[in-house]
Amino acid sequence: MKILIINGPNLNLLGRREPGIYGSKSFEDYLSELRMIFPETDISFFQSNHEGAIIDKLHEAGFSAGGIVLNAGALTHTSIALADAVAAIPAPVIEVHISNVHAREEFRRHSFIAPKCAGSITGLGLDGYRLALSYFIGRGR
Ligand code: DQA
Repeated sequence: MKILIINGPNLNLLGRREPGIYGSKSFEDYLSELRMIFPETDISFFQSNHEGAIIDKLHEAGFSAGGIVLNAGALTHTSIALADAVAAIPAPVIEVHISNVHAREEFRRHSFIAPKCAGSITGLGLDGYRLALSYFIGRGR
């Protein structure tokens, strides 16, 4: 099964960015762990700080991937274009947030993409990505 993980703006700084909120592990290190946990799964990864690049990636992968795990960062709370892109593709998308967005600032409580996603995982740290992958893999059997 092919799964794509997409990380949005500022998530390239994981491990260095606000470690009290996002932890001290880089996503590259975590991705190696995920690939060891799910050796049978073709896990690809894309990160961009640019809204249009993320939309292009959703268009490119969204007609062939078995599932997409999307942490859109702050674009979650602002981007109708990203929500439209998620709605436009047949691949199921799971929204993941490392931090508990409901326990932070008010503006983080609204997600434009959540209604277009199969589900959302928030506040469980990096483990949210593993849980999303488990869901897609279990569903694919
Ligand atoms: C985030 C939460 C967003 O509100 C924030 O803008 C991020 C990261 C998370 O993973 O907790 O960049 O998506």
